Amino acid sequence: MTLDFLGQHQRTHMCGDLRSADAGQTVTLMGWVNRRRDHGDLIFLDLRDRTGITQIVVDKSRSGLALEKAEASRPEFVVAAIGTVRQRFEGLENPNMPTGDIEVVCTDLLLLSDAKTPPFSPAEDAIGNEELRLQYRYLDLRRPEMQANFLLRHKVAQAVRSQLSSEGFLEIETPFMTRSTPEGARDYLVPSRVHPGEFYALPQSPQIFKQILMIGGFDRYFQIARCFRDEDLRADRQPEFTQIDLEISFPTQETVFGVAERFLVAAFAAAGTTIQTPFLRMTYDQAITKYGIDKPDMRLPHMADLTATLTPEIRTTLKIEQDLPVYGFVIPRVGELSGTARKALLSEIRTFFGESGLDILDLVRLRTAEAFMPLAEEIGSHLNATTIAFNGDSFTTEDLAIVITPKLGTPAMWNFDRQWIPKRVGALRLELAKKYADKHKLFEKKGTAEDYKFLWVTDFPMYEFNEEKKTWDAAHHPFTSPHEDDIKSGALFNDKGIVRALAYDVVLNGLELGSGSIRIHRKDVQQEIFRSLGMDEAEARERFGFFLEALEYGTPPHGGIALGLDRIVMLLAGATSLREVIAFPKTAKAVDLMVQAPSEPTEQQLRDLHLRTVIRS
Ligand code: AMO
Repeated sequence: MTLDFLGQHQRTHMCGDLRSADAGQTVTLMGWVNRRRDHGDLIFLDLRDRTGITQIVVDKSRSGLALEKAEASRPEFVVAAIGTVRQRFEGLENPNMPTGDIEVVCTDLLLLSDAKTPPFSPAEDAIGNEELRLQYRYLDLRRPEMQANFLLRHKVAQAVRSQLSSEGFLEIETPFMTRSTPEGARDYLVPSRVHPGEFYALPQSPQIFKQILMIGGFDRYFQIARCFRDEDLRADRQPEFTQIDLEISFPTQETVFGVAERFLVAAFAAAGTTIQTPFLRMTYDQAITKYGIDKPDMRLPHMADLTATLTPEIRTTLKIEQDLPVYGFVIPRVGELSGTARKALLSEIRTFFGESGLDILDLVRLRTAEAFMPLAEEIGSHLNATTIAFNGDSFTTEDLAIVITPKLGTPAMWNFDRQWIPKRVGALRLELAKKYADKHKLFEKKGTAEDYKFLWVTDFPMYEFNEEKKTWDAAHHPFTSPHEDDIKSGALFNDKGIVRALAYDVVLNGLELGSGSIRIHRKDVQQEIFRSLGMDEAEARERFGFFLEALEYGTPPHGGIALGLDRIVMLLAGATSLREVIAFPKTAKAVDLMVQAPSEPTEQQLRDLHLRTVIRS
């Protein structure tokens, strides 16, 4: 069968357009053969494009030639179907398809492009092999689920653009080929041909440029900006990803929060979802003590601090370290656990803590907890209080309650990091929530604003101690302003561990969506921060001299934030990996399986770049 030319044929409708009201119209549809059912003299083709599917009826009695072509067609052929819209016969309607009341009776069929048998069918809902999906991404992208994800992504990006534009933000692009930006990951480097031995770095974020745009007088900047980071990849991390990045002159923290909340409202509305503002707020310290993590999932009750409940005598009896904190938590709706399930859970929890010195009190269900007596009541009432605060009702035997205690001889880690115990307990809490989430529908969407629990986490620490290097690192990035009080009190110079930054995160359902800060706008403070991060004068000048100089020419106080666009769309799409919402993503090993990147350059390319590869093992 030879292929047809498109000629002067024009598409009149998309495959998702036609309804009963269109019956009688002559139409031309173009798309892919989704499925083909051959009944001899009668062939049904389901024709698919990104808007939907229409059933095409090819009947020998109408056009023998069209039938011959329909016979030759196969799934994923690209065809044009010309014909008349007809109401389907009674009883043959398909209520599962928006076009299910009609069909197009074909008078002419053009085969525009043939197709090999695809390694998987875009007509199928779930494709198990992700590597195959990535290798044949064009086939994967044809699937209605993926088409919906990218339509969603488009709508979200447009809503953000229009909201920010309406608030006076200018969209300005910043370079990809630049110098290293300090966001804590490794850089991707681009060798220069013109300057032998020198490299550009791809930006980990537009951070320095957006600050310089403030110095440049732009007042309000935004960009839907591509960022590049060579870091360990996870489901919520890609080596190239997209930020909704913005910066504001003369802001307070509230200014930034308001702007971000408004564009999130617009973005979620574009996806058909209403969210509540203002978002909840919590300081970093509160987040750690209540949830054991700096990105709490507010869909679960927080931990209960039971430290004061355990008297010294009880601690001695139960072999619990004196003075160290004790935390309990409740995972709702876990349901009854069998004896075997309980045992398995206990050993799972003990494996989780390993040699860390933390242990679970030997009980799972408080109400029936004999080992707990005489503490059950006190502990129970604390846990109950957190449960009531969470859902307005007491916990029930359906809920799983767990209490974690530091055993005698808990390692010294605690002395170094006072938040170490709540962080470990918080990590367990999340593990268990994940374990029971699907079975017990913990996070099932209800279609209300409650599905999306936003939170601002504020007052992050300024510095993080790097155990390996024994140095203090910037917890956010080195352009973040310390709290004015901690500068005035001298803590900035004497007690780095307690210095708070004017840094904040926006968190949604336990995922960090975005981070930002009020920046340093004074050269003396900026130099001091570089120095405190172990960067001497010469290094600071070498890496950021241009920026320190810019700060000397009249810098407005400024601040901003960047939110992960991919992460927002992932959550809205109900996906669990960024790969579902990035058209051409990379694997966990940073490989693009379709184009086979990275790849070896040619000898000539290396020569042009003055490079030789030496692989060190
Ligand atoms: P930060 O490094 O916290 O801040 O990044 C901001 C947001 O970008 C998203 N993000 C990622 N998304 C996918 N893959 C990744 N590898 C990845 N890394 C980060 C997250 C994160 O919250 N310049 C500062 C912002 C500022 O201070 O204004 C910055 O980049 O959603």
